[in-house]
Amino acid sequence: MGITTKSRPVRSNQTGIHEDLFNILQKHREKPYLKPVSRHTREAFEYARQRLTSISAPLILDSGCGTGESTLALAERHPDAFVLGVDKSLARLQKNPLFATEHNRNLLLLRADLFDFWRLAAREGWRFERHYIFYPNPWPKKRHLKRRIHGHPAFFDMLRLSPYLELRSNWRIYLEEFAAAVAFVTGRSLEVETFAPDTPISAFERKYWLSGHELYRLRIRLS
Ligand SMILES: C[S@@+](CC[C@H](N)C(=O)[O-])C[C@H]1O[C@@H](n2cnc3c(N)ncnc32)[C@H](O)[C@@H]1O
Repeated sequence: MGITTKSRPVRSNQTGIHEDLFNILQKHREKPYLKPVSRHTREAFEYARQRLTSISAPLILDSGCGTGESTLALAERHPDAFVLGVDKSLARLQKNPLFATEHNRNLLLLRADLFDFWRLAAREGWRFERHYIFYPNPWPKKRHLKRRIHGHPAFFDMLRLSPYLELRSNWRIYLEEFAAAVAFVTGRSLEVETFAPDTPISAFERKYWLSGHELYRLRIRLS
């Protein structure tokens, strides 16, 4: 499941928080997002709902779980919880023998689009004890702001899912922008930290760590 090639640090034509960030957030806050949810995500969501009805354990969400390595690590670290790993990439999920197979581990790997999944979960009042987003696609070009999580209308729904949200990235600006977006919504200022993992939690964390990148983390407690 590992990714071993060396990678270069993120290069961007941005030197700080995007100048359009707050305008975009304001628009998304004022205007309801009406795009229909994709069929495959609705079906995946229904499947997850059925699986989760029999589970009374606290839930943890691993959004953009890739190969699900972090989902398994979280399930092992939190044996009393049930961890849901969601990713849109079938190719990545299929690298994990626990995807689409019968097993009795405290986790489920699900193929779905996160933006739609978050909207459905928020609408249905799902609550996760913890929510992790490890190394989201940075979309580092300025013109790609709206593809970043905080530049998407579903950002507001995502924030409603858990009282604890943790993001990790090898691009500091991504997390600074995310923190600024959370501050815009909640009024609370947040600090981006650097950290060194004892054991990398995911394939991308390992790849960036072994490539000598600085790693950043944003831990958010929401009420
Ligand atoms: C850079 S990889 C990180 C994977 C994993 N978290 C890790 O740290 O190894 C980003 C992941 O986010 C997933 N992803 C990006 N946009 C997504 C979306 N809209 N819905 C679901 N997954 C998405 C990609 O398929 C990819 O697996």
